[in-house]
Amino acid sequence: MPSPAHTLAPPSPGAPPIAPQFEEGTTLDRFLLETLRGYPEATGQFVTLVNQVTLAAKLVSARVNRAGLAGMFGATGTMNIQGEYVQKMDVYANETFKRALEHAGVLCMIISEEEDDAIPIPPQFPTGKYVFAMDPLDGSSNIDTNASIGTIFAVFRRMSESGQGQPQDVLRSGRDIVAAGYIVYGAGTVLVLSTGRGVHGFTLDPTVGEFFLSHHDIRLTPDTRTYSCNEAYTGTWDPRLVGWLAGTKDPALGWSARYIGSLVGDFHRNLVKGGVFLYPPSKKAPNGKLRLLYEAFPLAFLAEQAGGAATDGVGPILDRTLASLHERTPLYIGNKNAVDAITRVLST
Ligand code: AHG
Ligand code: MN
Ligand code: MN
Repeated sequence: MPSPAHTLAPPSPGAPPIAPQFEEGTTLDRFLLETLRGYPEATGQFVTLVNQVTLAAKLVSARVNRAGLAGMFGATGTMNIQGEYVQKMDVYANETFKRALEHAGVLCMIISEEEDDAIPIPPQFPTGKYVFAMDPLDGSSNIDTNASIGTIFAVFRRMSESGQGQPQDVLRSGRDIVAAGYIVYGAGTVLVLSTGRGVHGFTLDPTVGEFFLSHHDIRLTPDTRTYSCNEAYTGTWDPRLVGWLAGTKDPALGWSARYIGSLVGDFHRNLVKGGVFLYPPSKKAPNGKLRLLYEAFPLAFLAEQAGGAATDGVGPILDRTLASLHERTPLYIGNKNAVDAITRVLST
């Protein structure tokens, strides 16, 4: 008899709202302009921000696709605040996004996984109303293997009045996020974005250098039978989680495992096809490995916007308030019933 943690729950009542249909070949620009008509207070700064993000994404995508030819494999020999060896592509992505964003007059501060402190806007440029937090290149260990890697970002509206961003502009609740997304550099380059009205994917057509709507209103169904985790660490996991994982091995339930080792690649597959991703605390990472601000927060925003869920094992990731820029968190994210089952297991 399947355990309650693995039974198929009845589908949640009511289908997701039917979003307005966009024509084939809708560009990201057109999608933004038509979407932002619903935000009368829009000043155009957000469209500018997304346009600069897509410029940086095109540059990083081109470099990733030629990394092996452009001498971009391998490490720089330096270590970042995370205690990780910085890869050449980490530096390139970090510099490319900073250069594309810092002059646009739409940000008051940038936070990057690759930099210890918040990055101020250079004095020669105007500041703007948004805070941009990014993992410029996620999945660095996969750069040389040609597996999917990506850029993950979260956007907040500033709290301080003007000028350079202040700590209170970023040390805040995940519920304050106004937009989040990622670019996955894989077989194609796909930008997935939410401004709080559903989750939408745009695929880069490199022959014209334009992102076109390819995944309209991505939804996570309540259930899944796919899990993603690094099973090598289960020896130092919470035994209750080990028990949950063991339950998926019941052949009657039809679970499958998929793990790339790039959060952005694992999350994108789970978003498109369904799946629950787990990165629990372990002996190697007592608070979990993933960072709250620029990995868990943005993906949790997307997961909830798509009808899924994301918790740290105790409560919703987005209910957390950031205490320090690079703090780590356990992360359980994906289809809602699976995330809820894991949270229940950890609360008993
Ligand atoms: P980053 O490359 O930005 O440091 O992130 C790597 C993370 C994440 O992408 C992935 O899910 C995780 O590291 C994989 O960790 P393990 O190798 O411990 O499984
Ligand atoms: Mn990362
Ligand atoms: Mn990274």
